[in-house]
Amino acid sequence: MDATSLERFGRRLRVAMIGGGLGSYIGETHRIALRCDGLWELVAGAFSRDYSVCQATGRRLLLDPERVYRDHRALVEGESRRADRVDAVIVATRPATHAEIIVAVLDAGFHVISEKPLTSTLEESVAVAAALARSGKRLMLTHCYSGYPMIRMAREMVERGDLGRITAVDTEFASGAYAGGTPEGAWRVGSAEAGDAGMLVDLGTHALQLATYVTGARVSEVSARLDRLAPEHEVYDNAFLDLGFEGGAVGRCWSTYQAAGAVHGLRIAVYGDRGSIAWDHERAEVLWWRPVDGPETLLTKAGPMATAGALAASRFTAGHPDGYGLAFANLYRDFAEALMEEAIGEDPAPFLARLPGVEDGIHTLEVIDGALRSHAAGHAPVPLPAGPGSRHSVGA
Ligand SMILES: NC(=O)c1ccc[n+]([C@@H]2O[C@H](COP(=O)([O-])OP(=O)(O)OC[C@H]3O[C@@H](n4cnc5c(N)ncnc54)[C@H](O)[C@@H]3O)[C@@H](O)[C@H]2O)c1
Repeated sequence: MDATSLERFGRRLRVAMIGGGLGSYIGETHRIALRCDGLWELVAGAFSRDYSVCQATGRRLLLDPERVYRDHRALVEGESRRADRVDAVIVATRPATHAEIIVAVLDAGFHVISEKPLTSTLEESVAVAAALARSGKRLMLTHCYSGYPMIRMAREMVERGDLGRITAVDTEFASGAYAGGTPEGAWRVGSAEAGDAGMLVDLGTHALQLATYVTGARVSEVSARLDRLAPEHEVYDNAFLDLGFEGGAVGRCWSTYQAAGAVHGLRIAVYGDRGSIAWDHERAEVLWWRPVDGPETLLTKAGPMATAGALAASRFTAGHPDGYGLAFANLYRDFAEALMEEAIGEDPAPFLARLPGVEDGIHTLEVIDGALRSHAAGHAPVPLPAGPGSRHSVGA
């Protein structure tokens, strides 16, 4: 049996976390995901703006108190001085802080694992891309839905031509998060922390990234209608986007906090001239396949149409759900394998090809920036710049 990347690399990758303190929304998800395959070791952190929460998080994780830092600057400085410094840093703070932290981490020579959105504005994401290029390091963006077996299968079905020529894409993140009222201190709907594009960079970004991840096509044109359905919200809390894709497909993307009764609400359907596929995050284990010349079929990760990527992303046999935690863990596993393979002189490309990275981050922000401009111009279509595809985009 061949030695694994971990055996050949000889140790687990050391990682620090910025943000993600006890009580945060996403911190624990990252910690669960990075433990799954035993390829990462969380050894340091600046977990919270509140130092007492930061320290409590460090104690809960049994970290060396010397490696529990007051802020990201102290972390970058402290880790840079250590012989056993971390290999990578997770950025799990709110979007408005991402750009400054990511640039500081890259400039200090660490790989980055960043929560989405890459940054809160397009200008900031361009600065991050420049820092990534000059660092020679790698950046993975945790667009976690790209880690689901059935999303990997959808992408490979498009790639191998099962759907024929792609004609239309229908994607939505229709959440009911604030439909029943807005809780006190909900930063996602305040413009101070979230900015005008708040809901779009929070939810819309996932739906847009799924569309480009599955189809491999960039959005070339957007027109948008943005509304505040709850009068107390400062951000647009509902967005209807009409999309044009490179290659000629058309599409639409609905994102909202106001879909009353919805639990999560992330869905995608892709149509081609030979058939269509449809996926719903709340039934993540299955993918509808509707060929023009055969019966509609509910595909699972087993069965004759299963693709190599779907099988590699499945940890359990069909009928045993993998779920959100393992979709997240797939990103951590692929990124660890890429970094280890590269460190031992092997080609990381097969692992990087599956991962969302800086181009996904920039491109979704290009679409969102275009949507804001379109809305301001009375829903006029806004052409978007051509650029590299969102594939193969992790890294310098
Ligand atoms: N991929 C997903 O499914 C998913 C789900 C939820 C949130 N997110 C993303 O995760 C990020 C964090 O969101 P959240 O909901 O966990 O936010 P949150 O407010 O619940 O938690 C943020 C944490 O970061 C800390 N923090 C903020 N600024 C800091 C700084 N400068 N230095 C150190 N710590 C700092 C806060 O004290 C807190 O512990 C956002 O980018 C969000 O979009 C992604």
